[in-house]
Amino acid sequence: MSNADIVWHDAAVSQTERERKNNHSAFVLWFTGLSGSGKSTLANAIDRYFHDHGYRSYVLDGDNVRHGLNNDLGFSEEDRVENIRRISEVARLFVDAGHIVSTAFISPYADDRARARERLPDGRFIEVFVDCPLETCEARDPKGLYKKARSGEIPSFTGISAPYEAPVDPDITLQTGTRSTEENVHELVEQLEDLLRPS
Ligand code: PPS
Repeated sequence: MSNADIVWHDAAVSQTERERKNNHSAFVLWFTGLSGSGKSTLANAIDRYFHDHGYRSYVLDGDNVRHGLNNDLGFSEEDRVENIRRISEVARLFVDAGHIVSTAFISPYADDRARARERLPDGRFIEVFVDCPLETCEARDPKGLYKKARSGEIPSFTGISAPYEAPVDPDITLQTGTRSTEENVHELVEQLEDLLRPS
């Protein structure tokens, strides 16, 4: 069957109706940054804040998604592109369902992040650059992966033997080398004020 044989079916309940019921906007917080920069920590911390304050939210995390939906993908450029494509489609479904979704993927390529933005309704894709110097990420090395990458045990490791294209004009930048998780969550809440206002 080709795509031409598949007809889009409009949903009976619209995203706007779901947002009204939830009393807040639905959007994607797209965290991007090096391995060990603190994406998952921040995504989970803001998710805790949202949950505790009555927002419907969820986290999509690189390591976890690669155990299930994307367990057929590795870390070649081609696989990373497909990884981010699938994630952005899942994120879109969450937004359609009226949720806030925080995604924590390295998402190293600017083009892929731009495509993810294009898949979301206007203003509903917030790129959050988790800015942390490579030296700091490598010193942290929470999973011991940088050590393995340096020794050549892991090929194509982001920042060492594979590229990371830092956002040029992110919606929000959070420094994790010098600021605490609490400070960064506070900063996020302030910056998201308009979207978090009851709709
Ligand atoms: S990507 O580039 O967006 O497709 O990567 P992502 O899905 O976020 O997965 C990153 C996590 O996988 C682990 N890992 C690697 N990262 C980078 N390069 C290589 N070669 C690699 N191999 C395994 C690593 O734990 C990443 O987790 P984080 O949370 O980013 O440290």
